Amino acid sequence: MGFAMLQPWVSKHAAENIWVVTPDAASLRGLQEKEGVRHVAYPNTLPSDVKPDVIVFAVKPQILEEVIAEYTAYRHSLFLSVAAGKKLDVYERKLSPAARIVRVMPNLPAKVGEAATLLVGNSQVTMVDIKNTETLLGMLGTTAWLKDESLMDAATALSGCGPAYFYLLSDILGELGHEMGLPKDLSTALAKQTMIGSAGLWKQDMLPAHTMHQNIAVKGGLTEAALQELTQNDALKALMRKALVAASERGKKLSD
Ligand SMILES: NC(=O)c1ccc[n+]([C@@H]2O[C@H](COP(=O)([O-])OP(=O)(O)OC[C@H]3O[C@@H](n4cnc5c(N)ncnc54)[C@H](OP(=O)(O)O)[C@@H]3O)[C@@H](O)[C@H]2O)c1
Repeated sequence: MGFAMLQPWVSKHAAENIWVVTPDAASLRGLQEKEGVRHVAYPNTLPSDVKPDVIVFAVKPQILEEVIAEYTAYRHSLFLSVAAGKKLDVYERKLSPAARIVRVMPNLPAKVGEAATLLVGNSQVTMVDIKNTETLLGMLGTTAWLKDESLMDAATALSGCGPAYFYLLSDILGELGHEMGLPKDLSTALAKQTMIGSAGLWKQDMLPAHTMHQNIAVKGGLTEAALQELTQNDALKALMRKALVAASERGKKLSD
């Protein structure tokens, strides 16, 4: 996720200087050779004159607390974190109650400037912080603020995890096409291009999702027959509800 955000920030010159702190230099995929991007393995090797306007945490939730504890000296920075499930009070406890913190939930399409990002800030966040956060995250796609932090797990289950649901669907369609006799490669390619094409068309038409699928489901046609199966007794909806609830519950567990 860190790389997905870093790449557009570098290409769009989001900052004069970007320091990436990660023990895993390979994850930068050569970006440290670009102008303005520097890398260190650990925060204690950052030069003492580095005073970042913004610090972004993009590590696994399991190690987040030990990582943030290393940044308590940066009293003037705005902290952004993409860690799923970790509540604002965790950061306040580890950094300082006065720290300005925004939880950010982007998704992987950030890499291609198509992220759907949710934001929620603590009470210390200023109007300038809000503007700067929107500028940075706006470089990755769309942004929206949540007033109620408790909605973050539901939002994460939907948009943070969401790309995986669509890829899984494409995967299943590819397998089923093969099962119905299509050569495997062709079936996989059809499933992939159908998803890419549907997204592209939707981007152009911008009609509600319901209208988009109903426009294809001509009365008495093949699509109508398929959609009837998927929507009968809310079968697909019930399954997706279970998936979103499971993701949201996992988010809650991580925050505990
Ligand atoms: N993946 C998504 O779609 C997605 C979407 C929204 C939010 N998020 C959030 O993004 C965060 C990162 O997830 P991810 O899937 O990108 O995980 P990831 O692929 O494991 O990336 C985490 C990176 O942090 C590095 N790292 C480990 N210890 C570090 C330290 N002490 N200081 C700095 N960097 C360190 C890891 O290096 P090593 O590999 O060497 O350990 C790895 O390169 C998570 O909190 C997740 O909740 C992810």
